[in-house]
Amino acid sequence: MILITGASKGIGYFLMQKFMDEGEDVIGIYNNTIPKEHETLMYKVDIANPEEVKNFAAANDDKLNQLILINCAGSNYNAFAHKADPAKWAQLITVNLVGTFHMINALLPKMREQNFGRIINFASIVAQSGIPGTSAYAASKAGLWGMTKAIAVENASKGITINNLNLGYFDIGMIQDVPAEMQEIIKSKIPGKKFGNPDDIFKVVKYLSAASYITGTSVDVNGGLF
Ligand SMILES: NC(=O)c1ccc[n+]([C@@H]2O[C@H](COP(=O)([O-])OP(=O)(O)OC[C@H]3O[C@@H](n4cnc5c(N)ncnc54)[C@H](OP(=O)(O)O)[C@@H]3O)[C@@H](O)[C@H]2O)c1
Repeated sequence: MILITGASKGIGYFLMQKFMDEGEDVIGIYNNTIPKEHETLMYKVDIANPEEVKNFAAANDDKLNQLILINCAGSNYNAFAHKADPAKWAQLITVNLVGTFHMINALLPKMREQNFGRIINFASIVAQSGIPGTSAYAASKAGLWGMTKAIAVENASKGITINNLNLGYFDIGMIQDVPAEMQEIIKSKIPGKKFGNPDDIFKVVKYLSAASYITGTSVDVNGGLF
C-alpha cells in the first residue's frame, strides 16, 4: 500500500493520481481541503495531532501492509524572525516536522513487524539557501534531515528505508501563493530559468520506493539551483 499525506492538493494530489494511473493501491490523507474525488480513498487526519494519527493507523491496520509512506503534507509561515508570532512559528514546526514524525511513529511498528517499509519525506532547498522570512519553514525542513538519519540507522536491519527529497521550485502547489514578481525573481536564479515539472518528483519517489540500499539521505531535485 502507498500512503500519501497532503494528498488533497498540490504535489501530493499529483502523486496520488500518478500512482492510481499505474494501478497501484494508494490512499491519501487530507486535513482542510475536502476532496472532490476519490472520497473513498481519502482520510481526514490532522498530522499535527498525534491521537488522530494513531487512531487512523489503528483503524486502517489491515490496509497498511508493505507500506510506502510518502510524507508530503506541509505548510508555510512567512515572517521575519524579529516580527514573527512565536505561536505561528511553533505551529509550523508542529505540522512540518513533528507531524511527519507522528506519521512515522505510528506506522513504523507495523513496518518493523513486516520487515519492510519505505518512508519518503518532503524537505526543501529553502532549508539550505538562507531566504528571508523562512526561518520556521527552513528549520522544519532541516529538522527532517537529522530525524531521517537517526531513524534510518534504527531501522536499517528491518528492511526499512527513509529518505528526503530536497525540492527546488515546482510549477504546482504552494509556489502559487508566491507573488508573480517574486516568482520571476526565483526563476531568474534557476539555471534552466523555469520551475520543475512535478513528473520529476514522481520519478524520484518511485526510484526511492524501489531501492533497498539507499537510506538516511536526501535527493536534491532542484534543476541545479543551490
Ligand atoms: N511546491 C513546491 O515548489 C515545493 C517546493 C519545496 C518543497 N515543497 C514541499 O512539498 C510538499 C507539498 O507541497 P505543495 O506545494 O503540494 O503544498 P500545498 O499545495 O500547499 O499542499 C499541502 C498539503 O499538505 C496538507 N496539510 C497541511 N497541513 C496538514 C495537516 N496539519 N495535516 C494533514 N495534512 C496537512 C494539505 O492538506 P489540506 O489542504 O487538506 O489541509 C495539502 O494537501 C510540502 O511538504 C512542501 O513543503 C514544495
